Parts: sequence; C-alpha cells; structure tokens
Amino acid sequence: MEKQWWHNKIAYQIYPKSFYDSNGDGIGDLPGIIEKLDYLKYLGVDILWISPFCQSPLVDEGYDISDYYEIDPRFGTMEDLERLISEAQKRQMYILMDLVINHCSDEHEWFQKAMADPEGEYGNFFYLADKKEGRPCNWRSYFGGSVWEPLPGTDKQYLHMFHKKQPDLNWENPRVRRELYQMINWWLEKGLAGFRLDAIINIKKALPMVDYPADRPDGLSSPDMMLTHARGIGEFLREMKEETFEKYHAFTVGEVFNDKPGELADYIGENGYFSSIFDFHETTIGASPKGWYGNSPVTAEDYKKACFAAQEKSTGLGFYSNVIENHDEPRGVSHYLPEGCVCESSKKMLAGLYFMLRGIPFIYQGQEIGMENVEFSSIDEVDDISSRMEYQVALEAGCTKEEAMQAVCRYSRDNARTPMQWNADPHAGFTDGTPWLKENENYRSINVEEQTGRGDSILQFYRRLIELRKDPQYEDSLIYGACIPYLRGQRNLMAYLRKGGYQTLLVVGNFQEEPQEVTLPEAYETVLLNNMDCFHEHDRTICLKGWQYLILKMQDKKQG
Ligand code: GLC
Ligand code: CA
Repeated sequence: MEKQWWHNKIAYQIYPKSFYDSNGDGIGDLPGIIEKLDYLKYLGVDILWISPFCQSPLVDEGYDISDYYEIDPRFGTMEDLERLISEAQKRQMYILMDLVINHCSDEHEWFQKAMADPEGEYGNFFYLADKKEGRPCNWRSYFGGSVWEPLPGTDKQYLHMFHKKQPDLNWENPRVRRELYQMINWWLEKGLAGFRLDAIINIKKALPMVDYPADRPDGLSSPDMMLTHARGIGEFLREMKEETFEKYHAFTVGEVFNDKPGELADYIGENGYFSSIFDFHETTIGASPKGWYGNSPVTAEDYKKACFAAQEKSTGLGFYSNVIENHDEPRGVSHYLPEGCVCESSKKMLAGLYFMLRGIPFIYQGQEIGMENVEFSSIDEVDDISSRMEYQVALEAGCTKEEAMQAVCRYSRDNARTPMQWNADPHAGFTDGTPWLKENENYRSINVEEQTGRGDSILQFYRRLIELRKDPQYEDSLIYGACIPYLRGQRNLMAYLRKGGYQTLLVVGNFQEEPQEVTLPEAYETVLLNNMDCFHEHDRTICLKGWQYLILKMQDKKQG
C-alpha cells in the first residue's frame, strides 16, 4: 500500500457552536477554536474536522447552508477562518471542513431563484415535480414526514431527504456538479487539508422514483430502502474526486452508511472515491426500524462483533475512520458501556479498544475527558430536530411521555452538543454569557482543567494512546499492521493482535465488572499501556480486573 500523509494521523472533531465562545454571546466560534489550538496540540491530535460554519439559518445547526462562500457571522469572519488555517499550519495541524453538498438551505440563492422561476435554470438545481400529479413517491425523510413539500408560491413540490428547509440538490444536473466542484476547489485553495463529506450517499437517488413498501403506520418507506435501490453513485464520486480532491492530495472522509456488499474497495481502496469512510458498524447496533423507542441496548459482545466485522472487511483494502461518538450520536461511554458501569476505568478501556483498531482514530470534542450523556427533563430542553421528531414517533406509537423522553435522553444528538467542559467555572468555562444549549451539570467534576493536572485522568490516558499511535517504532504494527481478533469467543473479552513487520502487540480489554483470566498467545516483552496499576499473572495467564485494559508488546519475531 502506498503511504499517504494522513495514515498515521489522529483526527479530532470540533462542533464549533459548542466548543469555545470567545465573545460571550453563548455561541462557540472560530476565534474560540484558535484560542484552544494549543490545547489540541497538547492532546496530540493532527487533523481537525470542524462541523459546518458557513452561512446558515442553523435549522439543522449549520448542515443547512445558505452561502457556501461566507462564514456565518455567529461563528466569525473569513479572516478568522484564514487565521485558523494558518495558526493550525504553524502547529503542523490540518483543517477539514464539513462538506454539505447533498442539500443546501431553502434560503440559499439557488433555491430562492428556483422558487421565483421553477421553469427556469435554477428549477433544475433541485428535484421539482408538479403538485397536481400527487407525490412522486412515498419516501420518508430522515427527520420524519414525506420527502415532498410544496414549493411556496408555485404549483410545484420539491424533494428533501432531511428537513424541509434542506432541499436536495439535483446531482443529475451537470451544472450543479460544476458549481459544487468550483466551490470545493475555492476552499482547497484557501489551504484546507480536506473534507468530511456529509450525508454523501444520498446524492444518488433511485430513479425513476417509485413507491416502496411502507414500513411504518405513516405509509412511508425508509430512506434506506431508496438507497438500496439507487445505482451509479460511483460516477458522481469519481468525477468529484478527479475534479477536486485528487489535485490537492486532500484527505477526505465520507459519511457513508449504506455502501452495498462488495463496494468498500470502491470507496476506500487504493483508488477509492475517498481517503476513508467512517465505520458505522457499531453505531447501528440495536437500531430499530420503528424509531429510537424500539432500539435495544448494546452489549459488549455486540460491540466486539461489530468492530471485528469492520476490521475484517477493510483489511488489506483501506482504512476506516474509527469513532465512538460524533455530533449525531449519544456519548460513546454512555452508549457502549453498560448502565451503572460508566467510570474512569471503563471509559479508558473503551477508548483504548477502539483507538488501536486498524484505521484512523477520530476523537469527538469532550470524548477525551469522558463527557457523558445528559439527563434532559423535558423535550423543551432539547434543540435537535431529529430528537423532537423521534419524541413524536414514540408518542404516536403509544409510548408514555416518560418513555418517549427516556428514548430521547438515551439517543439524542444533543447529548454530544452540550458545551465543552473546560473547567469548573460557571457554564463549564465555555462562555461568559448564557450558553445556547445548557451544559451538562457534571462539568464541576468532569472538565479539562482538572484532568490536565491529574496524571491518571482520562485525558492523560488519551494522550498516551495518541503518543503510542504516533511513535514511529510502532508504525509497522499499529498503522500498517493487520488486526487479528484474539480469543474472540471469550465472553466480555475484547482482544486483538496488531501485527506487522517483526512486531506484534496485544490489545486487550476486560469488558465487564468481574475479573477475567486471559491466556496469552506467547510471552510478552513489555507492558506499553495499562489503565490500572498492575495485573496478576502466572505462567502464560494474566488476570484482568473489571474494566482493565492493557497493551502488551510481544517478543519480536526477528530471526538470528
Ligand atoms: C449528516 C450530519 C447531520 C445532519 C445530516 C443532514 O448526517 O452529520 O448532523 O443532520 O447529515 O445534513
Ligand atoms: Ca461567540
């Protein structure tokens, strides 16, 4: 495999609205990110993916862009962004922008023009259909309800896979693609290192549009169904890569949930459309087609199986990007660790287990200090549109308000969107004003300042994980080596070997409260990392305490 600049990098996702507010208006901003670059450098991360900051009505918190060439004033100015890029470069860090090009905002000029003249050039920038012929298909949007919405002031309707204020762009129109590529190159010229590609799988619709079997009482069919029928996305993605990313050696990571069997190489292989895509095998465990209220909790065994499935799929082929959370998910520690077992040791174990898998590790802001889900007491405290929709879905299915709220608390995207917890000052040191979303009350005990000063904190554990991954002496195993599941049948044990060159590392986590014995495959040389003080061993068996995590370096296999 040809080496790429990003193979040995660690990425960090910033949700700008909640990261750090530099001017007291309660909204995180670009100058706030600049102020925290030294902290990010101290943590050790290299690539910063920043969720959208372009001009937007913020209906979907910036994933609804009304001008791709302007910074939303709430986040700062173009000068701030340019300063951020150059300050990052000074620190050998790379900035990724979130590329939201499946749809734009209904306040975008293109949509405004389409509304004014649906038969004109801009009408064809979107998917429009005559109203009098009824709904062209029964697809459900991701945020609930039909994908079809009347185009105000006209006899047309338009398609939106997400919120009705996020009309889908018509990728079948070459003019749309050209406009988008031009915009992408404009940003790359500014010195961005690449992009995270939002909802990108949706750019290709199943055509012609037809109804699929309804899967809920609303008579609509899930967007997943449409995606399984869609064909030909590769032509768009290849063209985009050739017209843009490739020329700049950009790092690109796709938000791809629905790749079809056998397609992974097309996405992340040597000549793939993207550098990487996220591994969502874990994220989708226990998901119910009915909605959040029907989801089932994740077990250690599920988690392990999902990770290994992804590893096996990608081995020898390309790199997944590995996460335990992002701005669309609950906090990883609250989601993947059993209820009642969320403590510093178990948080470190989970961190260590996903971090050493083959792929590019991504950390979501606050994950490095073990931030947890929030107890929302009522739906009024929740901002996220998908949570509000899921709350309704649960009520309509007969859940009580309490049950519906329980589902929201467990899965809400707002769990990840509360202010970053910097210190024990009011509002977690995030703002001097009133934060746009209430902070998690546990900030007095869980915050960056406290963990910076404490040697055995989660933050320090992450720093050690990052250091190991970036240590050139482990590159053969940790970056380019294979990932081989070990003792995969042993319950609540997740273990794997990272093997490359002459080197083998054993990564092992006891995914339960009770101690557990592990027989080693061979003698080990050194302990590279331990989330506890010590462990017991006799012969070739080690005894792990509950939630204990180790990385062992096995004896080198060099002959002679
Ligand atoms: C992606 C984003 C999510 C957003 C959606 C629509 O899934 O991660 O936050 O709501 O796309 O842009
Ligand atoms: Ca601000």
